[in-house]
Amino acid sequence: MSHAPLSPSTILIASDHAGFELKEMLEAELRRMGYDVDDLGPETEASVDYADYAHPLAQRISDGRATRGILMCGTGLGMSYTANRYPNVRAAVAWTPEIAALAREHNDANVLVLPARFVGVAEGRQILQAWLDTPFAGGRHTRRVEKIERTTHSHEEIG
Ligand code: RB5
Repeated sequence: MSHAPLSPSTILIASDHAGFELKEMLEAELRRMGYDVDDLGPETEASVDYADYAHPLAQRISDGRATRGILMCGTGLGMSYTANRYPNVRAAVAWTPEIAALAREHNDANVLVLPARFVGVAEGRQILQAWLDTPFAGGRHTRRVEKIERTTHSHEEIG
């Protein structure tokens, strides 16, 4: 396994068995678009545990080795629960292009999570495109996103 820093354009991708087919399709799509893709597995459709694939991807985003990642499982939930345990990882489950765009615009989502059993290939492509195309809006959303990392909270801070 290489520990060299990834290029800023590299997109990490991983799934479990339920997301495997969609992962393969979106990976090919990303390569067609010119992105470097680092596929963290799995390599076959055999049954696996989603956390075994979410942890390595989220760790790399959290420590800055990569800036963007895509995860897929049946509902998107197990992958998002796992990835969101890591500091500075904002993993958004998106099942429409509008949610993916808002996850970027308002929440600066650096990990896109797709519920593979509930989105078809065409929808998956559109959701991915929206997430890739939409910039973070900044402004008031910066303050809100920064507050996500806090482990304590006081009511005086509510503005
Ligand atoms: C696998 O059957 C399924 O539980 C998994 O893909 C995911 O939906 C979990 O959150």
